[in-house]
Amino acid sequence: MTPTEILIFLQEVPLFTDLTVEEFAQLADICRERNFDKGHAIFYADDQGTSFYVIAKGAVKIVVLADDGREHILGVLKAQDFFGEMSLLDGEARSATAIALENSQVLSISREDFQSVLRRNPDISLKIMVTICRRLRRADRRVESLAFLSAPGRVARILLEMGKEHGERTDEGLSLHHKMTRQELANIAGTSRETLTRVLMEFQDEGLLTLRKNVLIVHDEKQLASKMI
Ligand code: CMP
Repeated sequence: MTPTEILIFLQEVPLFTDLTVEEFAQLADICRERNFDKGHAIFYADDQGTSFYVIAKGAVKIVVLADDGREHILGVLKAQDFFGEMSLLDGEARSATAIALENSQVLSISREDFQSVLRRNPDISLKIMVTICRRLRRADRRVESLAFLSAPGRVARILLEMGKEHGERTDEGLSLHHKMTRQELANIAGTSRETLTRVLMEFQDEGLLTLRKNVLIVHDEKQLASKMI
């Protein structure tokens, strides 16, 4: 990205909307562009936190990994989303691993620069807190669903949640474009890949949704929500 492209991009990021022209120029100055190929880790859980990241292009998954390599996806972040703030705020190690879900471009800001941006801009601190609250609420709902819902219930809940956040309403229904494999969808829902596939096929047979490559169309949200048991 050229310096002008970085500046234009930063002006579109909701986290920074209230900055002045001069502050945007200062921010662009302290951002470093980094590119990650699909599947590459940006950092690992337990690393020391050294930077804050804003996604310019692509998507990043936040995961926890078991010793045998299995992963559970805590969140999927897209362009304009940020991550890496937690360890910079509390001084602890990275709470999770960040992996590029597709070829991705991120802007990184060093710990020292991030902290001085926050000191100078209380509005940015507040917006970060709001995002942390939203992520905590989602995490609480996930715990609830893993504890209390059946496998079809967990799949239905995750589809509706992702549809609400990333889907678009079309004539056919709620259309969710994604670049995730079945295994990754299963890792979000907290099921095995086989179970996820079986449940999706059952939902498709019941006319609740249609599966196409990288697109999932929910035809009947109410009926799907009734599976959350
Ligand atoms: P940090 O702990 O520095 O490194 C991992 C990052 O993943 C963390 O900061 C947050 O930015 C992000 N993160 C952690 N948990 C979640 C979650 N449940 N949903 C979305 N992002 C998360």
